[in-house]
Amino acid sequence: MANALVVIKDLSNTYHTRSYGVFGRERTQPVLDHITLEIDHGEIFGLVGESGCGKTSLGNSILGLIAYEGDITIDGLRLNHEGRLKRSKELARKVQAVFQDPGAALNPAKSIGWLMEEPLKIHRLGTKPERIQKVDAMLHMVGLDPRYKSRRIHELSGGQKQRVCIGCALMLEPKLIVADEAVSSLDVSVGAQILNLFQDIHQRLGLGMLFISHNLPVVYYICHRIGVMYKGQLVELGTAQEVYSCPAHPYTQVLLEAASGPDFSVALTQGLPPEGQYQRQGCRFAERCPWQRADCEKSTPALINIAPSGEALHEVRCVLFLSSVQDKPI
Ligand SMILES: Nc1ncnc2c1ncn2[C@@H]1O[C@H](COP(=O)(O)OP(=O)(O)OP(=O)(O)O)[C@@H](O)[C@H]1O
Ligand SMILES: [Mg+2]
Repeated sequence: MANALVVIKDLSNTYHTRSYGVFGRERTQPVLDHITLEIDHGEIFGLVGESGCGKTSLGNSILGLIAYEGDITIDGLRLNHEGRLKRSKELARKVQAVFQDPGAALNPAKSIGWLMEEPLKIHRLGTKPERIQKVDAMLHMVGLDPRYKSRRIHELSGGQKQRVCIGCALMLEPKLIVADEAVSSLDVSVGAQILNLFQDIHQRLGLGMLFISHNLPVVYYICHRIGVMYKGQLVELGTAQEVYSCPAHPYTQVLLEAASGPDFSVALTQGLPPEGQYQRQGCRFAERCPWQRADCEKSTPALINIAPSGEALHEVRCVLFLSSVQDKPI
């Protein structure tokens, strides 16, 4: 992708935690493992995977909120390696976030109008009347009446709160929105309305979006391309249509089956190894894989493009695609 909006190269991160007390031992937990990914201008990229696989960590790395190794470039701006925890104002104007819990993301003591005007004030953009006009226009864009300006967060429904969060994120006209489980806490019908709002905003503003979710059908509905993560690695990457209709990696197949089955959570946790125990070598999914072979645990497979030449990339990290067609799990 030439001049992609987001270029992520070899991104890895490790969390260091220490348990309480004088003798508290330091624990290191590697999460992201050499992620390489591009998101194009105006593209909605979906990131799926089960809980704890590192989706939020990837989003937070792009937002400049956590430490990492590797390179991230957003619209030509390379994130500062040493200063990556200190979010520059320039980065804030390029990337904004919408999180799962809109109630927790907004200051309950302030009015909606104040909250939406704040980013403009911080960045010293426009005069007071111009800022108020922009807040009104933004409320209208996210489907709220401008009279909501004087309300506080506790006076809004969950869906309305999320609309305010989306409005706040758009005030600085960012190029990329990181939406982390932005509809997960909402009731199904309200979630569908917020999904439609994301689509509407995308069509109007042509924004790039990283849409993080554990829900494949939701991601399929809204995204152009999908990346499937398992234990900190991307295991499959392709257009939403390809990944959804021809899932290649056994883990993607399990995810899709689980999503269509009667009990999503039970299916997902069957055979789940203890959290954080990453294998040093080989495929991380091998211990749960129905097509496991001896060579699965020998070396870590790279992403292999399985799309016919001339078609959009469809990459999969599975040794079964290194060998004969008969061995393929599809
Ligand atoms: N600040 C932190 N300090 C230490 N460990 C962390 C921190 N944040 C996340 N982790 C650990 O990193 C792993 C990945 O977490 P992350 O939040 O990225 O997962 P996720 O894919 O977003 O999960 P979910 O779908 O539940 O939101 C988890 O095992 C988590 O416990
Ligand atoms: Mg998360």
